[in-house]
Amino acid sequence: MSGKKTATILVVDDEKSMREFLDIMLSQEGYAVTLAESGNKACEILDKNFFDLVITDIRMKDVDGIGVLKKSRAVQPGTKVVLISAFATAETAVEAMKEGAYDYIPKPFKVNEFKAIVREALLSKEKPLTEEETSLEKRQRHFDLLVGESEPMKRVYDLIRRVASTRSNIMISGESGTGKELVARAIHTLSPRNEMPFMAINCAGIPENLIESELFGYKKGAFTGASIDKKGLFDVADGGTVFLDEVGDLSPAIQVKLLRVIQERTFTAVGGTEEKSIDVRFICATNRDLEKEVIEQRFREDLYFRLNVIHIPMPPLRKREGDLPLLARYFLQKYSVEFGKDIRKISAYAMDILKEYSFPGNVRELENIIERSVALETSNIVLPESLTLSNLQKERKNRRETDLTSEGIDLERVLGGIERDYILKSLRIAHGSRQRAAQLLGISLRSLRYRMDKLGLQTSNHGTSE
Ligand SMILES: Nc1ncnc2c1ncn2[C@@H]1O[C@H](COP(=O)(O)OP(=O)(O)OP(=O)(O)O)[C@@H](O)[C@H]1O
Ligand SMILES: [Mg+2]
Repeated sequence: MSGKKTATILVVDDEKSMREFLDIMLSQEGYAVTLAESGNKACEILDKNFFDLVITDIRMKDVDGIGVLKKSRAVQPGTKVVLISAFATAETAVEAMKEGAYDYIPKPFKVNEFKAIVREALLSKEKPLTEEETSLEKRQRHFDLLVGESEPMKRVYDLIRRVASTRSNIMISGESGTGKELVARAIHTLSPRNEMPFMAINCAGIPENLIESELFGYKKGAFTGASIDKKGLFDVADGGTVFLDEVGDLSPAIQVKLLRVIQERTFTAVGGTEEKSIDVRFICATNRDLEKEVIEQRFREDLYFRLNVIHIPMPPLRKREGDLPLLARYFLQKYSVEFGKDIRKISAYAMDILKEYSFPGNVRELENIIERSVALETSNIVLPESLTLSNLQKERKNRRETDLTSEGIDLERVLGGIERDYILKSLRIAHGSRQRAAQLLGISLRSLRYRMDKLGLQTSNHGTSE
């Protein structure tokens, strides 16, 4: 089959307006659309015609969306099936995923999101979930640690490879959570020092008077409480690598001492007299602008040049095009195994939400979000709802609140967004019981229904039986 061939899509919905709407939208995109007004009809059509994709509403009389899915899986196992679900049928959608549906699109949807999911489904070589191996996907990991194939990350890998065998000191800069420590470990692992220790110390986390004895060790009697000799980090790391995290936080006094260690390759324990020689490689990390610190004379220029022989700038996650899904899936597998759960997929809709987000906390934040959603998820697919409990919401809210400039805002929409978040959250806590959700929100059931209607969280023909 050539890629140029017009993709064929079967649309199944018992609601005429929806059928027509989807017909127009998908035809405009250049797909060949066939319509079926019932599940029964769809099954007949599926017996005789092949489709690349089936899009079906879940709730229909006689044969429902699940029936269409089963039929399609039976007669055309290669055909992908996307279900459209109202909020009330989300549970069924999850069941459908187990039956091999490609994805589901929750109502209400935005036209662009819908188109994106359709496009993705048609392009995807992915086999339906039931055929997928349960084993961990073998994503290529670089140096056993780093995930990502984007151009900026390829440059990082290239640098790591080139510098690992040298003993040059390295400065890794970048926003919080971009993987600076992982890169430092990768360099150590690839270096000839890898049999010797990798010692990391967070310069920001330790009070000044302690950091000196941490690094250099101390002699018995050096200060009150120093009842025995103690080795410092440099003693332990001899022959290996020292990772100085947040190096920009070192006090001027320690900066001088560190400079000496680098220049002379010797150091003296606190309260000691004898000089010990050491052989360590320094890798530093900072999320500050160290050059600025130098100009403003908070960081010694000579030390800066000694440490910054090779500079590895870590790109923020939002600049690593294409890496987000790879990382998200990698963390999904990692935490599924850790939590002993069988969550194998992130719904396309949830992925879209992630793609929209800016990740100020970079990879660490993504990892936390996925970890939390795996912990919370009760189905075998990560759904948008389980992402809503994270920072995503906070950021969105903050953005909303600080959005008000001379250009103005749409207050109704802003408030609607907040209302929507709380309603979804309450329904989740209440396991879908509206009665209980209304109680949690301190409003009447009638008021909850009204609000859900208003926000498009239910449609009249998809009301629950509750
Ligand atoms: N490319 C990557 N592939 C896989 N995991 C990653 C990647 N980058 C970061 N991580 C994970 O994200 C988390 C944060 O990474 P790391 O601690 O190295 O970041 P950092 O830049 O040192 O952050 P900070 O500035 O806050 O100290 C870790 O759990 C790490 O395993
Ligand atoms: Mg770090």
